[in-house]
Amino acid sequence: MSEAIEVYEVEGRTFAPSAAFVAQANTADRSFYEEADADYEAFWARQARELLTWDKDFTQTLDWQLPFAKWFNDGQLNVTANCLDRHVAAGKGDKIAYMWEGEPGDSKTMTYAELLTEVSKFANVLKGLGLQKGDIVAIYMPMILELPIAMLACARIGVAHSVIFGGFSADAIIDRCDDAEAKLVITADGGYRKGSAAALKPTVDEALKRGAPSVQNVIVANRCDLNPDMQAGRDHWWHELMAEASADCPAEPMDAEQLLYLLYTSGTTSKPKGIMHTSGGYLTQTAFTHKYVFDIKPDTDIYWCAADIGWVTGHSYIVYAPLANCVTSVMYEGTPDTPHKARLWEIVEKYKVTQLYTAPTAIRMFMKWGTQEPQKHDLSSLRVLGTVGEPINPEAWMWYHEHIGGTERPIVDTWWQTETGGHMITPLPGVTTTKPGSACHAIPGVFAELVDDEGKPVEAGGGYLTITRPWPSMLRGIWGDEQRYKDTYWSRFEGRYFAGDGAKLDEDGYLWLLGRVDDVMNISGHRISTTEVESALVDHPAVAEAAVVGATDELTGQAIIGYVILRGTHEASKELGDEIREHVGVKLGKIARPKAVIIVPDLPKTRSGKIMRRLLRDVADGRELGDTTTLADPSVVAEIAAGAASGDED
Ligand code: PRX
Repeated sequence: MSEAIEVYEVEGRTFAPSAAFVAQANTADRSFYEEADADYEAFWARQARELLTWDKDFTQTLDWQLPFAKWFNDGQLNVTANCLDRHVAAGKGDKIAYMWEGEPGDSKTMTYAELLTEVSKFANVLKGLGLQKGDIVAIYMPMILELPIAMLACARIGVAHSVIFGGFSADAIIDRCDDAEAKLVITADGGYRKGSAAALKPTVDEALKRGAPSVQNVIVANRCDLNPDMQAGRDHWWHELMAEASADCPAEPMDAEQLLYLLYTSGTTSKPKGIMHTSGGYLTQTAFTHKYVFDIKPDTDIYWCAADIGWVTGHSYIVYAPLANCVTSVMYEGTPDTPHKARLWEIVEKYKVTQLYTAPTAIRMFMKWGTQEPQKHDLSSLRVLGTVGEPINPEAWMWYHEHIGGTERPIVDTWWQTETGGHMITPLPGVTTTKPGSACHAIPGVFAELVDDEGKPVEAGGGYLTITRPWPSMLRGIWGDEQRYKDTYWSRFEGRYFAGDGAKLDEDGYLWLLGRVDDVMNISGHRISTTEVESALVDHPAVAEAAVVGATDELTGQAIIGYVILRGTHEASKELGDEIREHVGVKLGKIARPKAVIIVPDLPKTRSGKIMRRLLRDVADGRELGDTTTLADPSVVAEIAAGAASGDED
């Protein structure tokens, strides 16, 4: 077993679904697993036909030319017709699609019929600006309803969207627009965050001043009345374009493999990868998992995924799957602590939320704030609790179970990735006996296996997580870089998809995810590459060399610690450390700003010149130093450790 994977003792407690839950569950026995194990293609074909409406039925379920998959390839459908038109046609037009809650407390609802009108109008706006099937549009927006409207309008006419998280920087916008040759940016003046209006449009302006020449137009939604600069001929107000737009935009049938979106995610190099997702398979698996993992009852449930649409969780489980399943969702603009620490629980009570989907980092924060916050509100409407983004520690699981779930609600710990598009490993709430901290088992129709360094399957114990067969919502590639797609996911273990995670299989066959085994950090459930942060650090004029590690952090799972060597005459000081830290925040966005920048005289390197990040991680975590015998100069680590111990950090 690789030393990169630390295996810890697993939890012994088990929690079976209650008889009451089982009695009403969408699926309550092992029949899905049995059906999928017997013939997984037939299983997915059945789901595709049952959950979605096809303009043209498919004749072939899977075309698998390792590592390239096509699902339902000769079938045709329109994703937005599945999310909107068919529900309206079935008489559900007045059903609420989104109950939107702004951070300052303003709120809005939008029905399926209204959403269809807005999406059709905005699709015509896009057409009016010359966009056509196959084009790519960047979206940089806060959590307002215009965001799903923009995404769906793109999907309606076969334009792929590339959503850029609103916390990212101008550089991130430039990189992503350049890579995809995006023709248009859709943004807003700003959005409310932590009690004030945070501007977004100036970041787009800065990006377009410095780069992204492919962008011809910018559409700006007005959320905060910030009155941004508008460049004549390039910038257009959302409301002005919409006032002129026709609501007549029939949904055209698209090929099942039509590109739906790109979503950039960090890898082990400094260049983010444009993960490609297509239409039919993606919608099948996201709709399936949404319905069965959250036990969705569309007529009565009020579902809330408290993520940001800027990440894959929001794409799949705020936009596409909930709409495909015709459920009513809550969408929240702001942060959980504004204006007070019971904000989430207030929203649960206000809307009588039935499913809550959040991240372990948020749960750990709620634990810190104390049980008095959730106790202020009636949480009895909740039926299923979900988590995603990082391993959940058993204490956080138990807290969620006891203080939010009242010891009765099933918890679904869902393991998946930007690349997988939808849930892969998770309990089914009416079927699985859960163990706190374990994501339990691969869903029906997904085949996960742990392997050792040589790629041999591991029966029990630690290993690398691989997926052995294609799945409908899998990435179809990395935009513009086929070789990188093959190298990143399909070359480490022959014939297998390598997820980049380590995991443990216990004697009962339960999977325990243990975190990344590559140079990707997980900060509050968000992926950040060490190389990307290192590049941003050395971009500062005072920095000669940098090494970044993810140190263990009680709240955020991991925290970014940067070790830097200064150039020539620069002198170490707290101010300089702060300045370097801020520099990364400006280059990459606040979420990638290191928690600490430690100025060091040298970095530990092997004799071949490779930085030994493992040792730096040990120092950051205050652990006993591991083996330093391969170091070129073993005294370097001792020196850094002494510096760290004496508080020589920012
Ligand atoms: O390390 C795993 C962790 O998050 C990574 C995927 O990150 P991203 O593509 O940003 O998608 C996050 C939301 C789907 C994985 O490689 N991860 C995600 N969910 C879990 C998890 N680790 C443990 N348990 C989970 N439930």
